[in-house]
Amino acid sequence: MRKQIAAANWKMNLTFQQGEQLLNNILAAPTTLKENQLVIFSVPFPYLTMAQQKLNGKKNMFVAAQNCFNKKNGAYTGEVSIEMLQSIGIEYVVLGHSERREYFNENNQFISEKINICLENNITPIFCCGEPLQIRETNTQNEFVGKQLTESLFHLSPEQILKTIIAYEPIWAIGTGKTASNQQAQEMHAFIRQQIAIKYGNAIANEISILYGGSVKANNAKEIFSETDVDGGLVGGASLIANDFVTIINALK
Ligand code: PGA
Repeated sequence: MRKQIAAANWKMNLTFQQGEQLLNNILAAPTTLKENQLVIFSVPFPYLTMAQQKLNGKKNMFVAAQNCFNKKNGAYTGEVSIEMLQSIGIEYVVLGHSERREYFNENNQFISEKINICLENNITPIFCCGEPLQIRETNTQNEFVGKQLTESLFHLSPEQILKTIIAYEPIWAIGTGKTASNQQAQEMHAFIRQQIAIKYGNAIANEISILYGGSVKANNAKEIFSETDVDGGLVGGASLIANDFVTIINALK
């Protein structure tokens, strides 16, 4: 059965103390996770260990890093390697977020190298893809996202792709309050799953979690998550508000 996932993406927000408080508040609220439901907190690097300590012993709750570098180690001042993350017990890393693509010029090839280094070290990548507004306006989003999948993921072995989580995040919906309609989300998720099926077969395609991201809020999560091919969300703004994120967790199917 596919995993249903509520993933928080704190981005570059909150002080350490605010992050601690937010986790305390979320963990104090009643959430009952089913066997196939996961919660992942993608927090800034300096907070990884703190978040892990808070989640210690919590079933189906994990911490993710928001990035890693594509090299094993060496003279790369300011970068964080997969080995470093692994050595503190991190199991998930968000890669290819549109903000990294836009502000740090990350391209499909570079992201594919990061995906490789994660999987070689048994860390699950949460691979983000999604089109900008001008692509949506010309109705070429399938070609655009298809290329992102082909260039960053489709060199993987069946075992490796099975370990990967995909997040579809239309850039025009991120932080804008403008969510994709349920139908737009479902259509793209079905397209992504179909591309995986063409490359790896139906059985594998049906096992891969595809999250939706882009203005998921407490009041729309249930509706979006109810779509057949939507397996939860990658949530920015609303993951910074304890009550809202708890509602989003409880909206998982
Ligand atoms: P948002 O961000 O929920 O604030 O739109 C989503 C994301 O960028 O992951």
